[in-house]
Amino acid sequence: MEKKSKKTTASGSKNSGSAQNAGMETSQLMKLFEDELKDIYWAEKALTKAIPKMIKNATSEELIEALQNHLEETREQVSRVEQVFESIGKKAVAKKCEAMEGLMKEAEGIMEDCEPGAMCDAGIISAAQKVEHYEIASYGTLHKFAETLELTDAAELLAQTLEEEKNADEKLTEIAVATVNIEAAEESEV
Ligand SMILES: [Fe+2]
Repeated sequence: MEKKSKKTTASGSKNSGSAQNAGMETSQLMKLFEDELKDIYWAEKALTKAIPKMIKNATSEELIEALQNHLEETREQVSRVEQVFESIGKKAVAKKCEAMEGLMKEAEGIMEDCEPGAMCDAGIISAAQKVEHYEIASYGTLHKFAETLELTDAAELLAQTLEEEKNADEKLTEIAVATVNIEAAEESEV
């Protein structure tokens, strides 16, 4: 029985070998892109359920307003991810994101352990910012993947969401620095 020829790059066929490799890398990058997209799709959908719990437990008016705005944005981001799937001719599929689930569990733990007030608000901000940073990392990667893969429409959509996540993170920092952290520090004084 004849053995199948192995995928070796014989000397002399180096060029065609690297061309093949380049093609293979692109499709692997495409697979990675799709996997990451499924992950963030799950995360965004889960956040549309987690953010209302944060709103319920928050006290600061600024924080409540910022979370409400971001909840609206998050709903739009869910449909934006669907548009990205559509732009690459794929059905939108969610794949459970263990990292986001962990971050949301931590947020719930923080909210269970505190009385409503500035301390709880500071905890909510910290949990929400961890979520934002995860999303910034994911969308940053997705955006760069889309650029490399020359998926212009997808790259544009992903850049839009990346910008929103960065703004949401900055807004939370502003609220923390301007009011919540100061009040929380005062609250803990005996
Ligand atoms: Fe988001």
